[in-house]
Amino acid sequence: MRTDTAQPVRLSEYRAPDYLIDHVDLDIRLHLSATHVRARLSIRPNPLGRPGAPLTLDGDGLSATTVLLDGGALDLGVIAIGPERLTIAEPPRKAFELTIDTIVDPSANTQLMGLYRSGSAYCTQCEAEGFRRITYFLDRPDVLSVYTTRIEAEKAQAPVLLGNGNLVESGDIPGSSRHYAIWHDPHPKPCYLFALVGGDLGSIHDAFTTRSGREVKLGIYVEHGKESRAAYAMDALKRCMRWDEEAFGREYDLDVFNIVAVSDFNMGAMENKGLNVFNDKYVLALPGTATDLDYAHIEAVIAHEYFHNWTGNRITCRDWFQLCLKEGLTVFRDQEFSSDQRSRPVKRISDIRALRAAQFPEDGGPLAHNVRPDTYLEINNFYTPTIYEKGAEVIRMLKALIGAEAFRRGMDLYFERCDGMAATVEDFIACFAEVSGRDLAQFMRWYSQAGTPTLKATSAYDTSARTFTLTLAQSTAPTPGQPDKQPLVIPVALGLVGSGGDLPLTTPAPHEDGGASARECASGVFELATETRKLVFHDIAERPAPSILRGFSAPVKLDLDSPAEDLLTLAARDTDLVNRWQAIQTSANRLLAASVATIRMGDVPAPDARFAEALASVIDAFAADPAFTAQAISLPTEADMAREIGVDVDPDAIHMARRELRRSLGLQLQPQLLKAYEALSTDAPYSPDARSAGARALRNTALDLIAAGDARTGADIAMRQFQSAHNMTDQFGALAVLSMIPGDQREQALDAFYRTHAADHLVVDKWFALQGLIPEASTFERVQTLMQHHAFTYANPNRLRSLIGSFAANLTQFHAADGRGYDLIASVVLEMDSRNPQVAARLLGAFRTWRSMEAGRRLHAQAALQRVAEAQGLSADVRDIVDRSLA
Ligand code: BES
Ligand code: ZN
Repeated sequence: MRTDTAQPVRLSEYRAPDYLIDHVDLDIRLHLSATHVRARLSIRPNPLGRPGAPLTLDGDGLSATTVLLDGGALDLGVIAIGPERLTIAEPPRKAFELTIDTIVDPSANTQLMGLYRSGSAYCTQCEAEGFRRITYFLDRPDVLSVYTTRIEAEKAQAPVLLGNGNLVESGDIPGSSRHYAIWHDPHPKPCYLFALVGGDLGSIHDAFTTRSGREVKLGIYVEHGKESRAAYAMDALKRCMRWDEEAFGREYDLDVFNIVAVSDFNMGAMENKGLNVFNDKYVLALPGTATDLDYAHIEAVIAHEYFHNWTGNRITCRDWFQLCLKEGLTVFRDQEFSSDQRSRPVKRISDIRALRAAQFPEDGGPLAHNVRPDTYLEINNFYTPTIYEKGAEVIRMLKALIGAEAFRRGMDLYFERCDGMAATVEDFIACFAEVSGRDLAQFMRWYSQAGTPTLKATSAYDTSARTFTLTLAQSTAPTPGQPDKQPLVIPVALGLVGSGGDLPLTTPAPHEDGGASARECASGVFELATETRKLVFHDIAERPAPSILRGFSAPVKLDLDSPAEDLLTLAARDTDLVNRWQAIQTSANRLLAASVATIRMGDVPAPDARFAEALASVIDAFAADPAFTAQAISLPTEADMAREIGVDVDPDAIHMARRELRRSLGLQLQPQLLKAYEALSTDAPYSPDARSAGARALRNTALDLIAAGDARTGADIAMRQFQSAHNMTDQFGALAVLSMIPGDQREQALDAFYRTHAADHLVVDKWFALQGLIPEASTFERVQTLMQHHAFTYANPNRLRSLIGSFAANLTQFHAADGRGYDLIASVVLEMDSRNPQVAARLLGAFRTWRSMEAGRRLHAQAALQRVAEAQGLSADVRDIVDRSLA
């Protein structure tokens, strides 16, 4: 394991590799504890590198049994071999072949990086720097090679042998119990995209014909007996392959595309060329075991990894600083796919929620970093919401700024120009500057400046002049290492909502006071590129309600001076559904912030009748769009409130304020909620489509609010639903409601659920997760007891995340006033670190908001972090997070 002596890597110090590796010939003999790997590397000096430089190959915990140069042994004087590198001081100045034998132990690999065992299968994970745990290599994404992989294994143990690319040969090894397969991938790729799988797996097969007529064999490999659970993933795969042809003109480029589902996986899934490896929770689904949300995730993750084939694999990253080039862009692509498959506004709303829940706190805390970082200690810690979700927002803004048509031409140019390259963000942006004729230099600041900008909007209506003046101002608070911030280019999508709908947007000419360009007025997207900008709209007959940042056109915090009536107008009538939802959230946030303040003064908050009325009319109109209605009546979460409040956060006051508001709304709206609940009840067989999922979402959200208002009524309905449910969405939705109501009924339901699903690890994960989230003091003991449960284990990342990760997301209990929640997570991080540093470091990220807490909690959090920081032998991963968190 790499421990805490890592040296910082800097973008400014990038140098082209001194050597290139054109071909990699691997011969891998799988064995439980001693897998033999022979690598034959065709190496040549890079014309762009330093002539005569030493050759240093990366390793991680390796030792070599043989090293041959052009078939001959090497003197000890010219070669140095250690666990972390293999150096040849003076390699030949022409092309040569290096043969390296290593032996690795997949069974002992608890980090789940490199070659490891998941269940009874062998599998690999090489991104970001896992290939160096298999053999010595130039483990960097700008070294692209053509791979041929021979895999050999016991036939009984691993009848299925899969590699990258196309299968060229397979057969038995005469006179032995072993067999082999040879895979060849004609597309040069960086080693992080290498993969192999060996195991006794079940599979389903299908085929896809690309629009140019290429026939692609599709396979999904799963645990035996789970084949039927892969059908939805297969369907999603075919849909996203077609979509990428239609939306981006991208076709698949090999004869086979295989997906393997494994239970032990650090991340969600991995885009290895032609052989994606998935966490099985993003593959396996049946109505009785997976919720609607699981189905949506499967669709999105299958698409995401498939889309990487062009954005990541055909065009990869020059270095890991460019990670957003593949991840942000591919998230943007998968979001667009899901929007087209489902409801665009509802997808946007859930993406906005996710961005605010994960990226905003990161950007506002000690772990804030640029979308393109300029330095890192441990690259594994940079697979963050900022790289992914903010990275996708940056692409979305680019599209808003240059328009859909230019965006598509820019993408086409990028695919054409950079195909086969290891590219940079500059290469990418240059394509859009070229096709649109726009100078995108200032836009690049989105990549190099961390922090969430605040967009302040102030407005004034002049009755006699019939003008509406909107002043926009941006500012960004300092982040670690960046005290001074510069203005960004912010696309502000705008509408002025009058009594009869949107008012036309007419302004003075661009260079006059309050002016805007014709393009801005026509598209409704106004650019704020300076600190402030004034916009004056003419011929406005009545005072409109401004709808600002429609579609959430930029990842900023909006500070709005609109009066409460304007928000209610938008909630009722905005043509932009995202802002209709946002208006309700903003209203709720204002009410909740006021009642938190009241509670902290020792007073009792008063209910707000107008807000309840607004929600009532939203619920009455539910039939038009149940999925949207479900989002609209879901109040901000406790974490949302903590973020809005920002400083001196008191989780108990937040919890009380939210509970009170939900109690009063649940009671007042009970008739409407019951009506919607009943109207949406159906005996129709389960289908995961968006419309049916939306109906279930609203039904469960309504039930949740009914129970918040009146626990008895809610519990009765939930118990009935729990017992009669014929799909996991309804069963789990009911259990989630019951889990919030203390008493025997809850414990009985939890027991029954466990007994029914004990054999299904993905459902057991849900059972653990639900219990970690209960906002009661007893949850601490419950979690400790569950850690002794025979089904709990540190060895499986999903299981650890389900119980411990959910507890760390439990605002009141993780942040308990006495600090015991912090201590528990610190202890688990330390326990986990020696086994799996990546998972440990991620869990430690739960502390990212510790400085925003009130003073007492802050001290406890700091002490827990210090305990981690002082531990001996920390991994580089945890060291990096803990040091930055404390800085
Ligand atoms: N390339 C990543 C997987 C990865 C992440 C490998 C970190 C190594 C380190 C993959 O494409 C990915 O982004 N997966 C996401 C899911 C996706 C839908 C955003 C993940 O694993 O969380
Ligand atoms: Zn990805």
